[in-house]
Amino acid sequence: MQFENLIVEIEDHLATVIINRPKKLNALNKETINELHDAFSTLETDTGIQVIIVTGSGEKAFVAGADIAEFAHFSVKKGEELAARGQKVLFDFVENLSKPVIAAVNGFALGGGLELALACHFRVASENAHMGLPEVSLGVIPGYGGTQRLPRLIGKGRAMELIMTAGMINASEAREYGLVNHVVPQEELLSFCGELSDRISKNSPVAISYAIKAVNTGFMNTARGFEAEIKAFGECFGTADFKEGTSAFLEKRKAKFPGA
Ligand code: COA
Repeated sequence: MQFENLIVEIEDHLATVIINRPKKLNALNKETINELHDAFSTLETDTGIQVIIVTGSGEKAFVAGADIAEFAHFSVKKGEELAARGQKVLFDFVENLSKPVIAAVNGFALGGGLELALACHFRVASENAHMGLPEVSLGVIPGYGGTQRLPRLIGKGRAMELIMTAGMINASEAREYGLVNHVVPQEELLSFCGELSDRISKNSPVAISYAIKAVNTGFMNTARGFEAEIKAFGECFGTADFKEGTSAFLEKRKAKFPGA
């Protein structure tokens, strides 16, 4: 596989996708997003590949965000299209890939970079890594799934604080938050992820693909969970148990539920 902005290394069952724009701290421009889509599509259909690691080139950055120079002049419509297209071709695509994708976070993972790591199935960071969603400092919000995936992973309060402050957390804080599963010295990052990949590769790829689907479906159902709660809450008001429970409370007596 030949790409302008990526290097893809294959060793046995493992593919390592290296985002290779070190002079721009591996910022995601349109071309890189398209190439990532092509690389993941090809690797998904390659029966020899069981696990994919994604990382950044150099020692400084995983990905320092979406390429700010590319969208600084965008209109409302183009901004919306940018987010929609990016989510479709890369972020949702990676999350729903049928093969495990591990983010090896080797430095700054900011904005779209953290969002890419969040879209991966899990994350391992090097000790020098820093993570954050600095978008509001630019007058925009995370647009590649960050407002959704970050709270689901680390909790609403922590996500709100990170998003509102536009701040960064270091690798050990990220581990404490559950944002990354492991923190290792930078020189051991890829070998550590390789060992995890060996362990994963011993298991059924079909079962793993079903497991990915099952876990993702549960996460996607969160919105439907709220709708279901509202409907069921309303239906309670039509039951004899509700009438008895509220009456008993107001009459200062113990409830005797009829079970209907
Ligand atoms: N988009 C476009 N270019 C970026 C970039 C981004 N998200 N992040 C870094 N770069 C470029 C810089 O413009 C610079 O290019 P230049 O050498 O042509 O001027 C190069 O990468 C190196 O970055 P620099 O800022 O000089 O490195 P630093 O060590 O001083 O700071 C960061 C590192 C990560 C703190 C800083 O680059 C930064 O804040 N980047 C933007 C992060 C961000 O807001 N991301 C969210 C985007 S929505």
